[in-house]
Amino acid sequence: MSKIISILSGKGGVGKTTLTANLSTVLQTEFGKNVAAVDGNITSPSLGLHFGFHEKFPVSLNDVLEGKLKIQKCVYVHPSIGVSIIPCNFSFYSDKNVDKLKKVIKGLKYDYIIIDSAPGLGKEAITAMEAADEIIVITVPQFVDISNALKTLQLARKMRKRIIGVVLNRVQNAEHEISEAEIEKLCGCKILAEIPEDKEVQKSTYRGMPLIVEKPNSGTADRFRQVAQALGLKASVPEHHKKVHKEEKKHHEEPLGDLTFLDKLSGKQKKHKKKK
Ligand SMILES: Nc1ncnc2c1ncn2[C@@H]1O[C@H](COP(=O)(O)OP(=O)(O)OP(=O)(O)O)[C@@H](O)[C@H]1O
Ligand SMILES: [Mg+2]
Repeated sequence: MSKIISILSGKGGVGKTTLTANLSTVLQTEFGKNVAAVDGNITSPSLGLHFGFHEKFPVSLNDVLEGKLKIQKCVYVHPSIGVSIIPCNFSFYSDKNVDKLKKVIKGLKYDYIIIDSAPGLGKEAITAMEAADEIIVITVPQFVDISNALKTLQLARKMRKRIIGVVLNRVQNAEHEISEAEIEKLCGCKILAEIPEDKEVQKSTYRGMPLIVEKPNSGTADRFRQVAQALGLKASVPEHHKKVHKEEKKHHEEPLGDLTFLDKLSGKQKKHKKKK
């Protein structure tokens, strides 16, 4: 049976999609698991971008939620990482059919299904929580973000969801930040990892390749591994990520498909790569 984990935050922009992409990747490439990453952020999706898909998807989760096709038909297996991505399209979609997520996701058979949730506690985030067996909350160690993370945890407890723990992201160890011990006390659950503020994370987002593949030997990559270990797993393919890295470079040299507004961005990324 698949284990469904939703990544939630309360506050937006704190690193949910970054964590979803890196956790899915590390589980697939280093922990030997078969993983699906689902974009549960229906109205403002970005999971595809984090995996380097910049073109419009021919079919997406939006079509599944509208009842037009089965979820198995919109699975995109990443050519080098191997994670199965179930994306949403970038065009405007309302959250009208979001509540079908839990039902359609049952059609997927994987070791792990990681759902990237929308920010806040609106319909989309609540649906992602409902669909999950377990949840991970991610926050930046600052008051505003933590207060929203607390609301998310409160709701998860009300819904009797198992809380794996909290990930602290963009940690700078600055004076204005709340300490790990304090956050742990406030949240009443385990801190799974402290991911530092790291420009390499932004660069990897820009290039559309999770940091765990781009910089596998970095301290930040180890923090993402720590989150996977918190699921009670041991790495089974520790050297695999290096091979993936080489193969991915090859993949990115291939021409892009349909022209969209995002192709301009892809063009810039290609130039950037040549400079390297
Ligand atoms: N540890 C980090 N260090 C530096 N930049 C980071 C870090 N984590 C995430 N970022 C950057 O922050 C931005 C937002 O991250 P991300 O898209 O994962 O947030 P999100 O919570 O999914 O946002 P939203 O709520 O809008 O869906 C991205 O550009 C990403 O590269
Ligand atoms: Mg996101």
